[in-house]
Parts: sequence; C-alpha cells; structure tokens
Amino acid sequence: MARILDVKGRRVWDSRGRATVEAEVTVGRGTTRLATGRAIAPVGASTGSREAKSLDASGAVRNINGLIRDALRSLSASDQKAVDERLIELDGSSDKSRLGANAMVAVSLACAHADAASEKIPLWKRLAGNARVALPVPQIQIFGGGAHARARVDIQDYMVVPIGAGSFAEALEWTAQIYAAAGARLAKKGTLQGVADEGGYWPAFKTNEEALTELVGAIADAGLEPGVDVGIALDVAATQLYRSGRYHLALENRTLAAADMQAMYLRWLERYPIVSIEDPFAENDAPAMQAFTKAAGDKVQIVGDDFFVTSADRVRSANGACNAVLLKPNQIGTLTETFACREAAKETGYRAIVSARSGETEDVSIVHLAVGWGVGQLKVGSFSRSERMAKWNEGLRIEEALGAKALPFPRKLFKK
Ligand code: PGA
Ligand code: ZN
Repeated sequence: MARILDVKGRRVWDSRGRATVEAEVTVGRGTTRLATGRAIAPVGASTGSREAKSLDASGAVRNINGLIRDALRSLSASDQKAVDERLIELDGSSDKSRLGANAMVAVSLACAHADAASEKIPLWKRLAGNARVALPVPQIQIFGGGAHARARVDIQDYMVVPIGAGSFAEALEWTAQIYAAAGARLAKKGTLQGVADEGGYWPAFKTNEEALTELVGAIADAGLEPGVDVGIALDVAATQLYRSGRYHLALENRTLAAADMQAMYLRWLERYPIVSIEDPFAENDAPAMQAFTKAAGDKVQIVGDDFFVTSADRVRSANGACNAVLLKPNQIGTLTETFACREAAKETGYRAIVSARSGETEDVSIVHLAVGWGVGQLKVGSFSRSERMAKWNEGLRIEEALGAKALPFPRKLFKK
C-alpha cells in the first residue's frame, strides 16, 4: 500500500493569465518513492454564492506546503476518503475558507493521480475499478457570452451536443466542422471578433435568440441535421441576470419576471433543437426552477450549476428543481465530496455532467472523473485554445485505450 511521502504546492497560471495553485503528491513504500501525481485548481468567473471559497494562490500554496503537508504525510494514498476527510477536518470551516477550496481540490486530485500512478494505471481506470465504462457525450461551446464575454450577450454558453454521434471521436469531428462553419458565418457577416474566455466565438449578436438561429445555421452548414445529429445546450447562468426578483436581459433592454423567462424558454424549446438548459433561473429562485422543471422536465435536461454547487445535500433537497447536476470539483473542495454529489444525483434519478471552469489549465483530471465514474456527459468549454483541447484530446486517448472494452457511446441519453 502506497503512503503519502510528500505534498508540494506551487503558484502557476491559468488560461486568463491569473495565478492559481498546483499540487504535487508523492507516494511510496517506506522511504522508496513510487510515483508523483499532479493537479491544478481551475477558477470560475460566474461563481455561485454557496461555492466553497478559494484563497488567493499564494495563501493556498502556503497552506499546501505547511498545514496540509504536515497533516497528510504517512496517510494511505489509496484511501481517498480518509485523505479528503483529513483535509475537511483540518480546514474545519463550513465553506473551506481556512485551507482554501483551491488548495484542497488540487491536493485531493493530485493524491488520486499519485495513487493511480503508483499502480501504473491511469486515473480513469483507478476510479472505474472493474466496471465497464464509456466516453461521455460532450457539450461544446460555440458562442461564449455572459461573464465570459463582458456580457456582450446575456446567455453565457451556446453549446452543441452531438447526440447522434457513434463515438467520442466522431462527436469531436462533427464539432470541428460546426466550429469552422460558425466562424465562416460570422466572417461573412463581418462580425467575427475573436473568442471569449472559453474559446467560443465572441458573440456579436443583436439578440440572445439570434445566437440560436446562427447555431442552427452552423450545424446545417456543416452538413449535419439539427436535432437529429446535433442538439443545442444552453448555460444561461441566470444568477448573473437576477436583481430584485427579476431577470435583466441587458442586450435586449428588457427585464423579465420568472414566468416570462419560462415562457421564453418554452417558445425556444419549440423552435430550436435544445436538449439541455443549465441554470435557467437564479441560485435563489427555487420556485421558478421547480415550476420550469414541472413544465418542461420531460422534454429537456435542466441542469443545476450555481443552483446545486456540487453539493450532495442541495441535490437531495432539490424538491423537483432540475433533473441534472453539474459536477465541478472545486465548487465543493474534494474528490470524495464530488463523488458524493454524483451518488446523490443517482439516488434522486438525476443525470450528471462533469464540468470545467472558465479559468482552466492543461490539467485533464475532469476527463478521468467523467469516464471513471461513468458520468455520461462532459462540458469543458469550446473547441479552441489548448486548456480546452487538452481535455478533448485526453478523451480521444482514453477512447482509444478502451477500444472494444468500452461500453457503447451513450447517445441514448438524448435519442430514443
Ligand atoms: P464559471 O462557469 O465561469 O463559473 O467557471 C462555467 C460554466 O458554468 O460553464
Ligand atoms: Zn454554469
């Protein structure tokens, strides 16, 4: 059994050029070093108010190299639960603000990588054990908006979901065609203005709905059938739009009550091949989330991100709000708690989606979680910039390694 010999933190930089924290965990037997695992904490921009709190990178690194290192040395690296419980106990706060969620998540994931490496297997295999697994269906951003594009449009993510693809590799082939077609359409209109934070095109549209028509056009331009081959997913990130009980669509100079927002979504569901809507209402607007799920939950996946903040407790008390949960490890702080949320989703009959943050790095841990835990869906941003492509490419490697041993690609999620 490999034990933790050393834990080290360092300041590194994310995709927005901001400081974040990397952890390295070295494991071994006796004093013999067997393996080192490494992970980097991502950073969100449209964060939920109930998320675990991160510290500034320097403070988090200090905690890793001091308190955390002292507390974890000699623990068994294979006992992820004990490692994470030790971190939680050492932190002692209700929101991870003492050690910092960024310090904790980097160490927690680095420990998992180190343990897998000590057994000479990849993390996804370590997590899957003997279970057969599949690659996840991706949600891939084509236009970025909201907090990732200085609110140029109100809605944060316009994504494609290759619901008819036969494999992860095919899903990415199609996405590449759609991404190129979308860029060509914008160039033709004279509105191609570079990309937003997650690599999706900068959304120079007159209305939020125009992005939907353009996306359908790009899917068709790519020679694919909207709604059959490829569906649309939205992340409204509506907490960002919510003030004094109303939703503010700044682009359209309109302020809507929850009921009007719901009516708009229902109209969009009729007009566009939307298969998933994330955070359609604000984190504190549970009644609206419940009403919308009642009205449309049998037709569309309704995902809670800020609404659940990867908390198993919040999923258990959803009370009919949403039917799917976004899993972001740094929203809760440890791998064990992220897994608990995934289990809570299963118990509640909710689907789950593993997700990156808008501030990302070359770290590909989340791809391993999506595969190893059999989560079924993965969201990592757009189809450009290497902090995103590193993750899509890791999925390709895993699909190749699984070969014929893989479960069928889960397109049945969205296609009957
Ligand atoms: P973030 O949001 O900016 O908080 O990471 C990302 C998302 O939900 O897509
Ligand atoms: Zn979101």
